[in-house]
Amino acid sequence: MILGGTGFLGPHLVQAALEKGHNLTLFNRGKSGPNLFPDLETLKGDRAGKLEVLQGRKWDVVIDTSAFFAVHVKNSAELLAPNADHYIFVSSVAVYKDLSKPDVDENSPVYRMDDEEFSSYSPFQAYGASKHACEMAAEAAFPGKTTSIRSDTIVGPGDHAHFRYPYWTRRATQGGEILAPGKPSDPVQYIDVRDLAQWIIYCAENSVYGTYTATSVPGYNMELMIEDCQVAADTASSLVWVDSAFLRAQEVVDIPFWVPSRENASGAGLLSVEKARQHGLRERPKLQTAIDVLEWYLELPPKKQNFVVGISPEREAQLLQAWNSRQS
Ligand SMILES: NC(=O)c1ccc[n+]([C@@H]2O[C@H](COP(=O)([O-])OP(=O)(O)OC[C@H]3O[C@@H](n4cnc5c(N)ncnc54)[C@H](OP(=O)(O)O)[C@@H]3O)[C@@H](O)[C@H]2O)c1
Repeated sequence: MILGGTGFLGPHLVQAALEKGHNLTLFNRGKSGPNLFPDLETLKGDRAGKLEVLQGRKWDVVIDTSAFFAVHVKNSAELLAPNADHYIFVSSVAVYKDLSKPDVDENSPVYRMDDEEFSSYSPFQAYGASKHACEMAAEAAFPGKTTSIRSDTIVGPGDHAHFRYPYWTRRATQGGEILAPGKPSDPVQYIDVRDLAQWIIYCAENSVYGTYTATSVPGYNMELMIEDCQVAADTASSLVWVDSAFLRAQEVVDIPFWVPSRENASGAGLLSVEKARQHGLRERPKLQTAIDVLEWYLELPPKKQNFVVGISPEREAQLLQAWNSRQS
């Protein structure tokens, strides 16, 4: 049973499960990608209170990709607990409270809903606290039979919702001088959606329980990531590294994978994935991700190709000009 299944990760989970010969049922509202899987049983309902269709059915494993609030996990997990053996919850590395040092792992401090400082949390920190509360709700309903998968940024073909990685895909295809933020050596981690999906199915098949950070092995960085996109695009381009302090002064807030200030975040991009790797997580070569995302991106209708985060070409040109004139 996949609670969700028709967004970004979900379709890759479906594919990974079907490739391994599993029988699947999806549960969702029927709003996102309603015609994606005509041959699969889909139960219509809503995490926010419409769960009746889940009653009286048995599943080996429940994979929950669609919960952001503990009450949603609590309600569905308690209902499913008598009729399922294993609950896999897709969580987030946003739970981790302190990224000031490398090697943050599953035992590191997390944001909590009952934290005295909760009222001063940013939306992102509150999201982390909420995801952690979801993990606890799953564990309460399925004690010892829960897997919480703390995923870092998910990238890969089909990323309609976030488009963070495709920012670089698109930028590399446009060629010319590319504004590269921060330092070439700034660490970057992400997980290819297909590797994540295959590993989640592996966890289901092999009863892998517990809490895991799921992302790539530390060692990759901003320069390597952009270069992989350049190689995939095969268009002439060069990188202009622009200092983070300069970008902050120019009020730039979001360039995908750029961490505006590393003062309290020197551990970002350097999370430990030892535990997940010991339990079967594997990753494909990063260049393969770059090539496959580009192929997917180029097949999108033009309107969708424009839907990217980050800075616009005009803003990039203006920033580069300001940076170059400052240097000279
Ligand atoms: N993307 C990232 O970089 C990233 C990073 C870390 C963690 N994560 C986590 O990864 C997970 C995967 O997200 P995804 O969107 O790719 O998963 P998905 O399973 O592909 O898509 C979300 C599914 O949830 C369903 N859904 C949404 N609201 C619902 C509701 N109220 N009741 C029932 N079903 C509902 C949607 O269908 P309907 O709309 O038809 O209901 C859709 O099928 C999320 O939990 C997210 O926190 C993502």
